[in-house]
Amino acid sequence: MNTPTVADPPHTHSLPKLRSAAASCRACPLWRMGTQTVFGEGGEHAALLVVGEQPGDREDIEGHPFVGPAGRLLDRALEATGVPRKDVYITNAVKHFKWEPRGKRRLHKTPAQREIEACLPWLEAEIGAVDPRVILCLGATAARSVMGGKVRVTETRGQPLRSPLDKQVVITIHPAYILRLRTGAEEAFALFVNDVAQAAALAGFKTTVTNED
Ligand code: URA
Repeated sequence: MNTPTVADPPHTHSLPKLRSAAASCRACPLWRMGTQTVFGEGGEHAALLVVGEQPGDREDIEGHPFVGPAGRLLDRALEATGVPRKDVYITNAVKHFKWEPRGKRRLHKTPAQREIEACLPWLEAEIGAVDPRVILCLGATAARSVMGGKVRVTETRGQPLRSPLDKQVVITIHPAYILRLRTGAEEAFALFVNDVAQAAALAGFKTTVTNED
């Protein structure tokens, strides 16, 4: 049997229908690695849609996006911004966990471009269904997926941009980057909070952070 190379979501704006169809997606080989498809979740018609890279170890086991260490940092940033997580839609560019064994651990592996492209129709379907005012991209994979090409996070972060699908976009770093820092994590977190606040303000949330940019 030929394995499709790009996902083919049903033509619907129903998130439950999309989620259920994505559960049996075989568009790329990553479904063999992951425990399950980790689809997006949150406010059905959220004004702010947050995109990460791919589920991590915890997310793969629990079946929910951003519930591991990076998710806790995202939660802290949303809390600092005054935006309830339930009012935001949170998803990933790739819906399966890609990993390699390292002893007993499963180590995150960056998804390949073809895997990101294979998964893109799911992200586009989620964006179509939620119809957010603003998309916040966490890190380069999310930014490339949403912007449709190579994007440098360092050059574009915090600037209001427009996606090819005509959505307002804000790009920032991935919270996992902050977790890896040996020094300067506090400053990096404060800048991350500023970017989250900027995206939230553009989306129409009243935020508790004053963005000085
Ligand atoms: N990192 C991501 O990009 N997404 C998750 O869901 C968790 C960690």
